Amino acid sequence: MYRSLFSIRRLSKKFSSGHTAILGIDLEIEAGKCLVIAGANGSGKTVLMKIITGLMDYSSGEVLFEGKPLEQMISCLRKSVGLVFQDADAQIIGETVGEDAALGPKNLNLPKNIVQERVDSAIIAAGLAGKTDFPARSLSGGEKRRLAIAGILAMGCQTIIMDEPFANLDWHGVRSVLQIILELKQNSKTVIILTHELEKTLAFADRLVVICGGCVVCDGIPEEALDGLKPEYGVRDPRCSYLSVRDCSWL
Ligand SMILES: Nc1ncnc2c1ncn2[C@@H]1O[C@H](COP(=O)(O)OP(=O)(O)O)[C@@H](O)[C@H]1O
Ligand SMILES: [Mg+2]
Repeated sequence: MYRSLFSIRRLSKKFSSGHTAILGIDLEIEAGKCLVIAGANGSGKTVLMKIITGLMDYSSGEVLFEGKPLEQMISCLRKSVGLVFQDADAQIIGETVGEDAALGPKNLNLPKNIVQERVDSAIIAAGLAGKTDFPARSLSGGEKRRLAIAGILAMGCQTIIMDEPFANLDWHGVRSVLQIILELKQNSKTVIILTHELEKTLAFADRLVVICGGCVVCDGIPEEALDGLKPEYGVRDPRCSYLSVRDCSWL
């Protein structure tokens, strides 16, 4: 059954600098699906994510969360929507890996033993087993992103939004984030991935939205949305294959 999670209507965002980052976006985001939002650098992905999660105000239009105005739903959204920022460093607050992953579930006022159970399994799911007592700040960039994901898994969020989840990750790091995304999908969570790296994740997408200059320019099942790509959208069609070393170039 279709259930709308976010309804975004005629949304626009103009900064005081005069720059318009979002220009009349209409988007229904369905619960329980994996949505990939792609777009070149500066296309408006992060601004859109911040607006629909109540972290940034908007200039005009309307955002509904679970059918109600976003502004009335902020506390509910904070419990059920987890965000993984591109800059995972900024998300780390706890001294150790275990402390950091426990902050979210502690805020939900869950009993201590439940918090511990959730944290233990989230740390394993995020590929950080054995690092519970590590100083969180000493983790590598990829591990910090996985710690941010662990915190969200431990909260049991129904929706996870990841902003450029593959940025600065090596092959192993990308694979472990993909494994988490796959498990979230299998558990019927809503997953929203903001990225320009379609080749890493499109196989998991139920839907692909491409934004360019703050507007939705392609929207549909990935196969169809990709057919609408134009060079000026700044997103590479990942379906081209490399048959030999001499093909290995993005030029
Ligand atoms: N606080 C801000 N003030 C002014 N302009 C901003 C601000 N935040 C973002 N922008 C601009 O809005 C546009 C979209 O930014 P963003 O959503 O971060 O792009 P991306 O698709 O790379 O995530 C960019 O041109 C960016 O410079
Ligand atoms: Mg961004």
